[in-house]
Amino acid sequence: MATAASMVTGADKQPKQVVPGPILLLGAPGVGKGTQAKELVKLWGIPQISTGDLLRAHRDRGTELGKLADELMKQGKLVPDSLVNDMVAARLLEPDTSRGFILDGFPRTLPQADWLDNYLKEQAGQPGSNCCCLPVVAVNIQVDYTQLLRRITGRRNCPVCQTIYNVYLQPPRHEGICDVEGATLVQRSDDTEECFAGRMKTYESLTAPVIEHYRALSRFAEVNGDQPVAEVAAGIVSSVERLRG
Ligand code: AP5
Ligand code: MG
Repeated sequence: MATAASMVTGADKQPKQVVPGPILLLGAPGVGKGTQAKELVKLWGIPQISTGDLLRAHRDRGTELGKLADELMKQGKLVPDSLVNDMVAARLLEPDTSRGFILDGFPRTLPQADWLDNYLKEQAGQPGSNCCCLPVVAVNIQVDYTQLLRRITGRRNCPVCQTIYNVYLQPPRHEGICDVEGATLVQRSDDTEECFAGRMKTYESLTAPVIEHYRALSRFAEVNGDQPVAEVAAGIVSSVERLRG
């Protein structure tokens, strides 16, 4: 199968050597942020930082943050900015962020975007800071509402390796079983039609303005997410290479 790298550069060539830096994957619930982040991790070897995944890990460990997040997620609401910002700050201190990182689902409000812009500026001025402080490249993935609903209600995840499937669009080889781990696939508790409607309302009121914030800066691209995974990935990779060039 064609990879993002081979689609961009040709299968016989090495991917262009870019320092990817901080990359923001923006877009509505179900556009494919997680799916694409995993493609970019394979290509560039930088970490995916998904605030949704971090909050679900807190929920599974039963922390206070996890209990609060669980309540809010089920209602399609956001976790308070200060709690999410602190969680991201702690993650960015880890050494694997030095060449860049993919933020998946963050920032999701204008105060989160302001916090991130300031955080990266401050880190850039600190000698010995580990975090990659190149200016962010923001990529907005676009998919229409009907397709998003199909993606959300059909999504299944492997609880072991986190591979993302879709019963309609990207089914596993054997129904309900992960191709890689053989584990029984699970469905997220917020992947119902009712919760999706609430998540979309939250997205439109609080997160859509974040897209306009980054559009106004120079390092911004839009990619059509309603294409095969490898083609969406190739679009993201070529946008990042162009904007970092
Ligand atoms: P989060 O987990 O981030 O959910 P989300 O933003 O709603 O996005 P999803 O994870 O649902 O979708 P995705 O874009 O990753 O799509 P995926 O690749 O899985 O957040 C959950 C909750 O946590 C929030 O509601 C909030 O409560 C809280 N939270 C998180 N971040 C927060 C923050 N910053 N501040 C405050 N609160 C926060 O793909 C979806 C499906 O489509 C899959 O089945 C996949 O197989 C399929 N698919 C993907 N790409 C394709 C393709 N190209 N073709 C066909 N099918 C495809
Ligand atoms: Mg996701």
